Amino acid sequence: MIYFDNAATTPLDPEVYETMCRVMKDVCGNPSSVHSFGRESKVLVEEARIAIATYLKVNASEIYFTASATEAITTAFYGAVRDIGIRRIITSPIEHHAVLHAIDSLRKTYPIEVCFLTVDKNGYPDLEKLGELLEDGPKSLVILMHANNEIGCMNPVEKISNICKAQNALFLSDMVQTFGKYPNDLSLIKPDFTCCSAHKFHGPKGVGFLYIPGNIQISPLITGGGQERQMRSGTENTYGIVGMARAFDVAYRDMEKNTLYISGLKSYFVECLNSFFPGLIYHAGSDHQGLYNIISVAFPEPYKSEMLLQNLDIHGIAVSGGSACSSGAVGSSHVLSALNADTEGSTIRFSLSKFNTTDEIEQTIGVLKKILL
Ligand SMILES: Cc1ncc(COP(=O)(O)O)c(C=O)c1O
Repeated sequence: MIYFDNAATTPLDPEVYETMCRVMKDVCGNPSSVHSFGRESKVLVEEARIAIATYLKVNASEIYFTASATEAITTAFYGAVRDIGIRRIITSPIEHHAVLHAIDSLRKTYPIEVCFLTVDKNGYPDLEKLGELLEDGPKSLVILMHANNEIGCMNPVEKISNICKAQNALFLSDMVQTFGKYPNDLSLIKPDFTCCSAHKFHGPKGVGFLYIPGNIQISPLITGGGQERQMRSGTENTYGIVGMARAFDVAYRDMEKNTLYISGLKSYFVECLNSFFPGLIYHAGSDHQGLYNIISVAFPEPYKSEMLLQNLDIHGIAVSGGSACSSGAVGSSHVLSALNADTEGSTIRFSLSKFNTTDEIEQTIGVLKKILL
């Protein structure tokens, strides 16, 4: 079995698994309980918070654990509109559905204006237009992701943050695809909100965080027992949180090595694809730029990605199509449509991780040759 769908989710790292098992087996207290069992859990949660905050160069009190990045994004949106008086959202059409659908739902309740920046063929938003828009108009929240999950293009988040700061706008950057792969020094980028999901870098599913700097005050989306300093009620997912911190440890320890290794795999994959299949189109220049683990490539007509996906799957090779496959339904890709790529029906996304090998690439090329040649 070969897994090339690491932008969707990653296999758990064995070191993370070991740490989590220990906590699942030996630590049973509710972190809110005041007795020794509770205190033991509380210490683990707070140690995890400090470790993550240290990697990202922020204060531990600015990290709020959530069940997912989607929850973190939704909390930030509602808080910004309800509590900070945001009346305009400026974003791009290639954000994740966690952003776009949350905006749709927010608009039903609040009188907000939504502006979409155009993106060029490589997925880069028009930042000149962003500057112009921010020169006047209502208080704005700018939402632009760090890296796109379908095509791997990356935004200059520090530059965007500075544009927003200069015009007194807030900036939310979805960094789900870059945490654990890049250093993401938040003390330099200075976003007003960002979000993380542990399962994208070999941590567990169902845990993430919302980062909010100390100068921003919003009220919670989920109320109840007042956990996470009132920001996110619900008993903490102790072993998930510890697992996420362990995934950060492993990712930061091995970041240089993994970056080199995975970039090398990507170059080799592209070289092999190009030598056997002429006429390939790489979205957002994903053969040589953007996220070092994503190749988004369209095969020439008459090949359809659904057919390719199914055939690869029959051979035990997991990839994803150009179409967004959220919740199992294959629809058209809003990202490729926004790029005006008329190749969405024939696009495949290979997303790599440290667990992939050159041998797996060669096997995949062999299968593709059988299907296509
Ligand atoms: C860029 C991006 N943002 C947000 C999300 C949502 O993450 P989760 O489903 O873990 O909440 C994803 C997941 O695919 C993503 O790739």
